[in-house]
Amino acid sequence: MDFYIMSSIIKLRGKGVSRIINSKVMLSPLAGVTDKIFRKLVRKWAPESLLFTEMINATSLKHGYGTQKIKQLELEKGPIGVQIFDNRPFAVSEAAKLAEDSGAFLIDINMGCPVKKISRKGGGSALINDRLLAIELVKRVSNAVKVPVTVKTRLGWENKEENIEEFLLSLQDAGAEMITLHGRTRKEGFSGKADWEMIGKIKELLEIPVIANGDIKNPKDAYNCLKKTNADGLMIGRGILGSPWKIGEIDYAVKEIKGFEEPNIEEKLLLIIEHLDELIKEKGSHGLLIARKHISWTCKNFPEATSLRNKLVRAIDANEVKELINKAIKTLNYEKKILT
Ligand SMILES: Cc1cc2nc3c(=O)[nH]c(=O)nc-3n(C[C@H](O)[C@H](O)[C@H](O)COP(=O)(O)O)c2cc1C
Repeated sequence: MDFYIMSSIIKLRGKGVSRIINSKVMLSPLAGVTDKIFRKLVRKWAPESLLFTEMINATSLKHGYGTQKIKQLELEKGPIGVQIFDNRPFAVSEAAKLAEDSGAFLIDINMGCPVKKISRKGGGSALINDRLLAIELVKRVSNAVKVPVTVKTRLGWENKEENIEEFLLSLQDAGAEMITLHGRTRKEGFSGKADWEMIGKIKELLEIPVIANGDIKNPKDAYNCLKKTNADGLMIGRGILGSPWKIGEIDYAVKEIKGFEEPNIEEKLLLIIEHLDELIKEKGSHGLLIARKHISWTCKNFPEATSLRNKLVRAIDANEVKELINKAIKTLNYEKKILT
């Protein structure tokens, strides 16, 4: 097992601001999920991991929209990468500067998003097809900021025979300091299985750190993926939904630290309340709508979870959610007492 703990450290030079990441396990940028409040929960269990913002549109940011997504990053504990998407080089470099000023640990350029709304306009995965523009984006942003610039992309647009290796080598030459690879093409979306083998082959070619992404949901997947890819790090996306402790759990496993304790049912239910309270504090009654999707992801895999979940997502306000959860906890504790 020594192989896995050779080094947990990823070093990025930057242009005057170098960065060290003391964990191989990172949180994916997830639109609609990895906001400041969610990151705070993830951070409780993963003090050293690199966490990402949701993807942020550069043009909007330049015009003053979405600024809350990069607000006061320097006040957050631990490293936070800001992910930007757009196809306009000037907008992307200006947005990168704003993010850097706000405390971004690094700037990541999204070259993998398959969503039509984004790729039709030339951003996200469309950049795989517009390689000259992709290279220009990396160069411009690298010249605009001092922190490292990284790229997150996929294994191809339509298929895996598009010489993505050449594309990635050119991004490396342009100044990208780390590449995250989701092991699927744009066409595959989320279907099939992530191709860790191909990530491993690309890892051998690149000099910069390669982060493997796709279908890593638990410590066992993490070991298998590291073994297959020899990647410098792992990025976890869907595995975090409803389980904000997951990055920490996988980080412990990869670092071979024993004693990670997954929250028990009561703690998971209390986490829902904590999350909801933060959302209401930040967003008022709209917070409840956002909380509902997190509730349905978290409230699962225990007896009566389905019926409780159905009630929780129909609750009309935060008080009703709390009452339902407190009642469920009382019932759980009562049943525990009877059984012991
Ligand atoms: C709800 C959701 C939102 C996502 N948002 C982003 C995003 O903002 N930027 C990005 O690069 N990828 C985004 N992705 C893709 C993930 O970061 C990740 O690459 C993908 O889910 C594969 O990893 P996984 O198998 O661990 O989920 C998103 C995925 C999901 C499911």
